Amino acid sequence: MIHSVAHETVLITVALIVVVLFAVHATKAILWRGGRFPVPAADRDEGDGGSGTSLGVKTVPQHEFDMMVASLAASQDRLRRFADVQGALRRVATLVACGVSASEVFAAVAAEGGRVLDASHTVVLRFETEGTATVVAYWNDPHLPQVMPPLDGCWPIENGTVTATVRSTERPARMNDYERNTTAIGRWAREMDLRCVVGCPVKVEGRVWGAMIIHCVDAEPARGVTEERMQEFVELIGTAIANAQSRSDLLASRARVVAAADESRRRIERDLHDGAQQRLVTLALKLRSIQTTADGPARGWLSAQLGGLVRDLSDILDDLQDVSRGIVPPILIRSGLPPALRSLARRSAVPVRLLVGNIGGRLPERVEVAVFYTVSEALTNVVKHASASEVRVELTRRRQSVHLAVRDNGCGGADLARGTGLVGLKDRVEALDGRIEVRSLPGDGTTLLVEIPTEPAEDLDPE
Ligand SMILES: Nc1ncnc2c1ncn2[C@@H]1O[C@H](COP(=O)(O)OP(=O)(O)OP(=O)(O)O)[C@@H](O)[C@H]1O
Ligand SMILES: [Mg+2]
Repeated sequence: MIHSVAHETVLITVALIVVVLFAVHATKAILWRGGRFPVPAADRDEGDGGSGTSLGVKTVPQHEFDMMVASLAASQDRLRRFADVQGALRRVATLVACGVSASEVFAAVAAEGGRVLDASHTVVLRFETEGTATVVAYWNDPHLPQVMPPLDGCWPIENGTVTATVRSTERPARMNDYERNTTAIGRWAREMDLRCVVGCPVKVEGRVWGAMIIHCVDAEPARGVTEERMQEFVELIGTAIANAQSRSDLLASRARVVAAADESRRRIERDLHDGAQQRLVTLALKLRSIQTTADGPARGWLSAQLGGLVRDLSDILDDLQDVSRGIVPPILIRSGLPPALRSLARRSAVPVRLLVGNIGGRLPERVEVAVFYTVSEALTNVVKHASASEVRVELTRRRQSVHLAVRDNGCGGADLARGTGLVGLKDRVEALDGRIEVRSLPGDGTTLLVEIPTEPAEDLDPE
């Protein structure tokens, strides 16, 4: 019994020692110590030489562990930057969606770009046609001294500057030495103690629209400012810039439409007032004087005739005044689009096939007027330029928009840049938040496609 108890005690002690040794060994294997790091046995590579442990883990050398840590840190860094860029894009996109002004969007782009790229001074430039660039926004790190853009925001694109290189190559560019730079920007950079400038093209609809420029007071920009990262950010933000630009173009085009319409109305009123109206008034006065001096046996008859003529003249004068106030064809106002378009079609020198779908009664006046003038200009263009034998005019209404298509089978080659008629239509249609497209390949006829919403956009001012 004593023997068996002693035997059991020895066995338990041995078992305990084994368990403790096993636990120590396992703990060593699990907790990385002595420059080795455990990985699951499943990941063991064949050339390991059997360094695996009985727990199914193996250890890896320090340098591999360091590489894993560095790679994890790099991924984390990439993730953080990715999240930063996404946040910046979301904020700018929200501004665009809220319909804020283009200048606010550009300012947000400059600020977000600065923050995302760890830059201290950013500028967003728009290239103008006359060899200059306009500063549309700039941003300064609030913790650093301000760097104001030079020359009241009008930047000459001189050779030897980052801006010129970006514009001509359509690629990012960098300049680290302004010591002997004689350009206006070079002199300004020296004054501001700027030692490095990095620029990147901003493309809108495939064309170089402008540039994002980063100014640095150090010889090298911060780690985040690499051409690749700038390019990536600018490409992502390009849509917001395009949207802001088209919105500002739209507003400008609306302003042009209103100004042009006012101007032409004033001119017609002036012409009518100084010309036809004055002559009619003079004629009426002459008739009155003849009426009062008429003599002889037919005096009564003559006087009545002259009185009638004077009244007719007054009516014509009234009509003229009405016309000069509106300059919209009376048939359109009185009877709506279908009869007005039929009258245009009848007058056209090229045969017109007119197909008017169910447009659901009268449309808002501004839409009717825009459609009428579009058809009128398109038909005039066909007669003037197309050498066509037929034009097809189709008008339909779908949901909240009217759709107009004017197709001719003529020579094609219509070009907005060569006249004022098509540009005027674009202004008129876009002023109503509509869209116009001119398809006109040489030899393949011309098609004008127009879509105009029948409900006004909320942010359009009433005309
Ligand atoms: N249907 C068409 N077929 C062929 N060419 C066309 C057609 N419409 C326009 N074009 C071409 O496009 C150019 C621009 O047209 P647009 O209506 O803007 O100007 P325009 O008719 O020349 O002058 P206006 O300013 O008096 O309208 C025209 O000069 C013409 O060359
Ligand atoms: Mg024309």
